Amino acid sequence: MAFELPNLPYAYDALAPHISKETLQFHHDKHHAAYVNKLNELIKGTPQDKQSLEEIINSSSGTLFNQAGQHFNHSFYWKCMAPKAGGEAKGAVADAIKKSFGDFGSFKQKFSEAAAGHFGSGWAWLIREREGTLKVIATHDADNPIKHGDQALLTCDVWEHAYYIDYRNARAKYLEAFWNLVNWDFVNQNIK
Ligand SMILES: [Fe+2]
Repeated sequence: MAFELPNLPYAYDALAPHISKETLQFHHDKHHAAYVNKLNELIKGTPQDKQSLEEIINSSSGTLFNQAGQHFNHSFYWKCMAPKAGGEAKGAVADAIKKSFGDFGSFKQKFSEAAAGHFGSGWAWLIREREGTLKVIATHDADNPIKHGDQALLTCDVWEHAYYIDYRNARAKYLEAFWNLVNWDFVNQNIK
């Protein structure tokens, strides 16, 4: 069954001024759409046509994994942001962050460093490992926590296409803006 490009969970201009309408139009309508289209082309008429996205991610490599991983990662990333969000973590995730990192500031610094220091294209993540501790990781290209048996809680896309229109090469400025958008309600849904 063909995969579908999910709609953004907010209007294209809802994340401005932190992320512009133009960035979301290109990022969602062109980049994410291209991953979904290519994924559908690759699985058409193959046994993967009947698999879930997670099953494809876990059983594939190379070009097919890249498309499936990027479809999952972008679908997840859109939900990690919301208008009038951001600030400090709240609820269960705030407690878990305190337990694993000491305090919110230390977590924020770790996540920002992972995102800012990532060489090339990829993603910064807050994950929950199998044994329950939270950890910050960075993954390359389309790689993600699903592939490694970990649970994704929060992600930030640090491919240049996520920020180049708004911030050119200044990834640090995009990351600062990202903290004004983090949807802690979604992160709390993931931690349940
Ligand atoms: Fe992206």
